[in-house]
Amino acid sequence: MSDAPLPCSIPPDRLTEAASLLAQGGLVAFPTETVYGLGGDATSDSAVAAIFAAKGRPSFNPLISHVASVEAAAALVEFGPLAQALAARFWPGPLTLVLPRRSDSPISLLATAGLDSIAVRMPDHPIALALIRAFGRPLAAPSANRSGAVSPTTAAHVAQSLGDKVGMILDGGPCRVGVESTVLDLTGPVPLLLRPGGIALEELEAVLGTRPARPSPEAGSPTAPRAPGMLSSHYAPTLPVRLDASDAAPGEAVLGFGPGDATLNLSPSGDPTEAAANLFSMLRALDRPDFTGIAVRPIPDAGLGLAINDRLRRAAAPRG
Ligand code: TXA
Ligand code: MG
Repeated sequence: MSDAPLPCSIPPDRLTEAASLLAQGGLVAFPTETVYGLGGDATSDSAVAAIFAAKGRPSFNPLISHVASVEAAAALVEFGPLAQALAARFWPGPLTLVLPRRSDSPISLLATAGLDSIAVRMPDHPIALALIRAFGRPLAAPSANRSGAVSPTTAAHVAQSLGDKVGMILDGGPCRVGVESTVLDLTGPVPLLLRPGGIALEELEAVLGTRPARPSPEAGSPTAPRAPGMLSSHYAPTLPVRLDASDAAPGEAVLGFGPGDATLNLSPSGDPTEAAANLFSMLRALDRPDFTGIAVRPIPDAGLGLAINDRLRRAAAPRG
């Protein structure tokens, strides 16, 4: 992978400013192809602590380290042949790989919540890659929203959710994919799908030659953070969310999929990729006090539908 500058819509002096803010332990929100990230120096305990504080995030939930090349990832984790094959096919892109931590890895132990693995990903966005290269170190970055709330897919969402807590927001327009990366754990005997996301299961299967296993349910408990992203209520708007709705109660907004009446429609043609890109912005747009709830039409699990239904089930889960 070349280090040549990519076309990037952020002026060079703003990137330099962002990189020096990161070097001082500050936080910079930046666009990726999936959702906006809240970035900080992944090698600094204090920068990572500032990320957890800004999000109000339970500190047992570890962060992804974002890199701008496979070589940079291989300096952090044991990057074996399967990781190489997956990265060759899907990086840059919405696939996060959980791999064994290298003994000389500079990543903050706080960023990994004390696990002996690290999640790494190379995002497919010119601004994200330019920022990581300008900074010269991996960026720890969760989605740039308050913990548990709907993820941001525009700079305005970040400003609404975290505006006073972030040093700088780099605006790259709306995110292309719209749901977070697929998280695949390669630390065990078989690949484990920890979180469905922007790379469809069908695409992963084509490279792995087999369908990745899902973690057992007890792995999601806070005391066993194998799959800490499997916490129940998450991605939640203020209004109650009702899934697989064939009708609408009086006062409910309808989030549609495919043909039919809806207050907003994720994809009138029933395309799950289009629906993923619209999911979080439409959930936000319907989260208004003049509605009593959000009724969501059924969405098939195919392609990015799996990731969409995962996010919607948590949006609809009992609030803790
Ligand atoms: O698309 C994305 O992945 C976005 C953009 C900003 O890159 N980031 C994102 O980060 O969604 P976050 O923090 O919201 O989700 C990271 C997920 C969580 O489910 C976390 O539990 C899991 O990755 N994770 C991180 N490190 C892990 C590790 N060492 N072992 C297992 N799971 C890990
Ligand atoms: Mg998140």
